Amino acid sequence: MKIIGIIFSLIFSLIISLNGQSWTEAQIDSLIDQMTIEEKIGQLTLFTSDWATTGPTIRENYLEDIRSGKAGNIFNAHTAAYNERLQKVAVEESRLGIPLLFGYDVIHGYKTIFPIPLAEAASWDLALIEKSARIAAEEATAGGLHWTFAPMVDIARDPRWGRIAEGAGEDVYLGTLIAGARVRGFQGEDLAAPNTLLACAKHYAAYGAAQGGRDYNTVDISRHTLWETYLPPFKACVDADVATFMTSFNDLDGVPASANTYLLKDILKGKWNFQGFVVSDYTSINEMVAHGYAPDNKAAAMYAFNAGLDMDMQGAVYYNHLEELTAQGNVSEKAIDASVKRILKMKNALGLFDDPYRYSNAGREERIILSEENRAAAREIARHSLVLLENKNQTLPLSNSDKIALIGPLADSPIDMLGSWHGSGQADDAISLVKAFGALNKDFTYEKGCEIEGMDSSGFAAAIDAARSADKIVMVAGEHFNMSGEAASRASIRIPKIQEHLLRRLVDLDKPVILVLINGRPLCLGWESENVDALLEAWQPGTMAGYAVTDVLFGDHNPSGKLPVTFPVDEGQIPLYYNMKSTGRPMDPNQKYTSKYLDAPNAPLYPFGYGLSYTAFEYSNPTVDKSEMTTSDTLTFSVTVTNTGSSSGHEIVQLYMHDLFASVTRPVKELKGFSKIFLEPGASKNVQFTLALEDLKYYNSELEKIAEPGDFLFGIGRDSNTELNLKVTLK
Ligand code: BGC
Repeated sequence: MKIIGIIFSLIFSLIISLNGQSWTEAQIDSLIDQMTIEEKIGQLTLFTSDWATTGPTIRENYLEDIRSGKAGNIFNAHTAAYNERLQKVAVEESRLGIPLLFGYDVIHGYKTIFPIPLAEAASWDLALIEKSARIAAEEATAGGLHWTFAPMVDIARDPRWGRIAEGAGEDVYLGTLIAGARVRGFQGEDLAAPNTLLACAKHYAAYGAAQGGRDYNTVDISRHTLWETYLPPFKACVDADVATFMTSFNDLDGVPASANTYLLKDILKGKWNFQGFVVSDYTSINEMVAHGYAPDNKAAAMYAFNAGLDMDMQGAVYYNHLEELTAQGNVSEKAIDASVKRILKMKNALGLFDDPYRYSNAGREERIILSEENRAAAREIARHSLVLLENKNQTLPLSNSDKIALIGPLADSPIDMLGSWHGSGQADDAISLVKAFGALNKDFTYEKGCEIEGMDSSGFAAAIDAARSADKIVMVAGEHFNMSGEAASRASIRIPKIQEHLLRRLVDLDKPVILVLINGRPLCLGWESENVDALLEAWQPGTMAGYAVTDVLFGDHNPSGKLPVTFPVDEGQIPLYYNMKSTGRPMDPNQKYTSKYLDAPNAPLYPFGYGLSYTAFEYSNPTVDKSEMTTSDTLTFSVTVTNTGSSSGHEIVQLYMHDLFASVTRPVKELKGFSKIFLEPGASKNVQFTLALEDLKYYNSELEKIAEPGDFLFGIGRDSNTELNLKVTLK
């Protein structure tokens, strides 16, 4: 048997080397014909290497599994040399020599780390976001990788959920565009190019709707909300030809996503005709036992596979049970063949049958990883991700003649600049604020003051002393990198107490206080917003953090980021997002029986779309070209934006809509367009948006996407508080 296999594999290698290009479908079919059931299941199996894991490790001896063809895919293995070693085992020592597929969480960079995805979303800059994914793919492929578990396109409306850091925020429209940009960035034009990766749309679906913001928790939303809010970014990934999907840990309508036929077969592979393959999340098939859905791992394997889940990540349930399930007639071998084919087609699309080592290129790895060019791009993207939340009396920008007291644990903590899921990014490569201030010759003294968490205030005195002898105080506060991301939900989303106490002592000094926030989620900042002079949301800006923040603090870059997510006043308001419904009793402060809190406002502290600039922008003459439209018309909106301040800057102009009456109640506002423009002082620009019938559509109660005749209101402005005063009637 082994000899026959080797002969076949030699014949195939010959065919490949003769034509020097990827395989035909017939060649893939004929390879599948030669595979044993064990080898087929091997292609449906993904195991972690012992390099690094992101969950409980189940198998250790994966090398033997590669050799025997029982593990066709490996994740958490990287670097050109290491992956080449593993690939050699698969290609030279396994019976059929089928190359391995190497996956990894390249979420916001491989080694040059970009801002966390939520921060990048604050740039509203699709070209920069695509570029960041492109660079991540270039570095990762040089390091031997074929596949990233990104983008995460889960809409997230609960800032307690730590994984809000990994997505594009709360909005469907913005999230959908960013999803497409990231897929294009990772996958490039041609998957066979040695610098492009398979992308993975995750976590399918509705993972972001975990109850109470507690990770992995139950999701119970209406089908309507599923279609309207949670599915569109996934559909955008399919439209961008994403190669793979990952199921989510949660259940939906009581059925775990990893065995959810409605999600996988009816929608993804059916209605959307997705041709790639679907991988589970880390042991999410096994977890159906804990969900109380499958009595044991064998049943879990059967449910998942029969629901359309092609590949098992780390759970070893396909590995252990699929053969027996097939023999017993509970799983069809034909269906296994179809899943194997989906996976082999992706290996083929990457060109791995042509040259299994093409992605392990030590020379390229050495040359491009952390190159000057990539670091410059990371600095540029980080500058665009920062959001200026407060700037009283134009406290910012700082001047080079200011003597600064730089305070706080996060001013000198490189690892925390990188955020969660920082790939193989290293703290040593990350630039802290202290380092950047030093390198850029700023006049400053640094005192840490306290740790990120804990009770120790013994450093307060030195920090206060340093602050006393300075002109201005810059405190850098917020969260440790692992206080957001996976399994990092927080019930209280405030700055940890010890840092807040230090900040209060600094504010008492009566000097200008600038608070720079390093964090992976919206925080409740009621006290801070009232008491500091300037507030800069820096998120977790990545490898070039210190430089990017310093550029903005000193005015070398005018901040233009806008919040992709609402900042509540108080945790009790959550969920709070800009496009909520009106309710039958909209809030009226003078009427008791209206929808409101007794002890908190309805309004957020900072709304979606909000962000300040060092210059001022004036909006004038908002117009729409018709007040009545037919189903075949388009609408053209226009507004003049003028930079009335004294510095040049970017502005993100936003168009919002409200469908006044519909057969299913509609949100009070929906983002329908945006445009990022650059204006010199005194300059004006006419900004236009075009909408067609498609943009007015929504899902009715039968889940059909329709537009109904009636009145629509529109408004153009700086953030989601924009007034809607342009009326259009759809005939
Ligand atoms: C996460 C995924 C990730 C996977 C592999 C899981 O715990 O939910 O997002 O891709 O681990 O690291």
